[in-house]
Amino acid sequence: MSTYISMILRFLLQAFFLFLCLLCSVKNSYAKQAEAQCSDCHIVEVSSLLPPIVCNRTSTKVPNKASLEVVSKYGPCSTINEGKAKSPNYTEILHKDRARAKYIQSRIFRPKHSGSDDDDHLKRTEALTVGAEPFLSNGEFYITVSLGTPRQVVTLLLDTGSDITWTQCKPCLKCFKQKTPLFDPTKSSTYSSVPCRSKACLPDFQPTCSSNTCFYSVSYGSGSSDGHVATEKLTIMNGFGTFVKYPYIFGCGTNNSADIDGVTGLMGLARTPSSFISQTSQKYFSYCYPSSYGSTGYITFGKSDDDIKNKFVKFTPITTSPNQSLFYDIMVTGMTIAGEKLPVASSEYTKSETVTDSGTTLTVLPPSLYVALRSAFRKQMSKYKMIKPVSDELDTCYDFRSYDEVVIPKISFFFKGGVELELDVKGIMVLYKKDLSQVCLAFQKADPDNPIFILGNSQLRGKEVHHDIVGQRVGFGPGGCS
Ligand SMILES: *[C@@H]1O[C@H](CO)[C@@H](O)[C@H](O)[C@H]1NC(C)=O
Ligand SMILES: *[C@@H]1O[C@H](CO)[C@@H](O)[C@H](O)[C@H]1NC(C)=O
Ligand SMILES: *[C@@H]1O[C@H](CO)[C@@H](O)[C@H](O)[C@H]1NC(C)=O
Ligand SMILES: *[C@@H]1O[C@H](CO)[C@@H](O)[C@H](O)[C@H]1NC(C)=O
Repeated sequence: MSTYISMILRFLLQAFFLFLCLLCSVKNSYAKQAEAQCSDCHIVEVSSLLPPIVCNRTSTKVPNKASLEVVSKYGPCSTINEGKAKSPNYTEILHKDRARAKYIQSRIFRPKHSGSDDDDHLKRTEALTVGAEPFLSNGEFYITVSLGTPRQVVTLLLDTGSDITWTQCKPCLKCFKQKTPLFDPTKSSTYSSVPCRSKACLPDFQPTCSSNTCFYSVSYGSGSSDGHVATEKLTIMNGFGTFVKYPYIFGCGTNNSADIDGVTGLMGLARTPSSFISQTSQKYFSYCYPSSYGSTGYITFGKSDDDIKNKFVKFTPITTSPNQSLFYDIMVTGMTIAGEKLPVASSEYTKSETVTDSGTTLTVLPPSLYVALRSAFRKQMSKYKMIKPVSDELDTCYDFRSYDEVVIPKISFFFKGGVELELDVKGIMVLYKKDLSQVCLAFQKADPDNPIFILGNSQLRGKEVHHDIVGQRVGFGPGGCS
């Protein structure tokens, strides 16, 4: 009798598992079918939008000895927030991005010969005293390098829209909190401060002279940093070996009121002579910002030796000369969503300046382009329920709580020379609320009085971006940081 019951039970159990298997295979084939139908969209597992909890370094392959790991200040790979992931706060980010756009506008055309320096300075100051908080950079990714002999560790936010590199130094008059000990010049045998007459006392530092020492001062609204201009030995070490830049000219900041989230300073990667990249012999760098906060990317100084990989990089020219703009200004010629061109005249793209700026988080679009993209996006997303705007900027948001998977249209930017940049999913939508109740289109509309096009760091995630100062061009390669 009991064997009979157990047989029935076993049968029922088997039938149940068979049924489960059927269910899951139906679900899988449904997803596969959707993918097959969908060359112009991303099928996204909603859980992949959640903030990662563990750091996954395995996804990064550092290309050569002048390469360094790039880490998001928000994610679990960051060493600057006590190893805890700190979710990005988009209210704060958008506030800083707005101020950053004003900073960029104020620095796009530097009248070197027309008008006096005073005018230039005045214009800048005016544009910069807008926000109440420091907003020097909304950069998200940082690197760890060493300065001095013996080496001392510094962590620097990467900023393609800043010229000088600076880090906080002892003796500190005023310093913000940082994770690692302050750089101490007296403990280094390779440190020297730069005299006023030296060529290294570069104009980018906006130098002043005191006791025959070159002092720099950089101000970003209410944030600022000043101190000595100095030379030091900069060392990059990775599994391949050691890369040394000596002498390296930088700002040793002893009076710093900027708060840049626990890093010790900022690495300027603009085109100007003072930037780190202009000081290296090849004046060339490439980087990949990771798609997920939970993994790491890389930056490579100099050209990569990987010819096969290099072959796939497509370049677009930089449209201004370095004495007109410190930014990497490029020309956008079009945008597509789900494979279709945005319904705007091509002249809409060329009306505004376009810069790539790693110190801006969410790409800023001129109003006409933003509106066109938004309505095309909403149309593509019409099967999902839109929720009321979470802010003036993030006005196209969805509640994804009841979905396992969502289908998001692909978005591409096109640049002069037919170069396409197809955005990563993380460059299309951002998680505004951690519970998935507010997931928003990851673009913002430029101020109509300031209709600039800024390609921000979120939209560059998962792509290899090349900056060639000598060749005056910016390139995009496939890569995805691996
Ligand atoms: C880490 O990243 C690799 C490559 O992207 C991926 O295959 C792997 O599943 C990830 N591991 C975890 C634990 O997320
Ligand atoms: C985000 O930042 C804003 C402005 O600083 C602040 O008022 C708000 O409380 C922050 N939100 C969260 C969830 O931390
Ligand atoms: C330090 O910087 C602040 C802000 O720019 C400035 O007001 C102050 O005069 C500076 N202090 C010194 C000693 O330079
Ligand atoms: C600006 O740069 C252009 C091109 O590199 C050069 O021809 C011109 O002489 C420069 N002008 C000044 C004022 O340096």
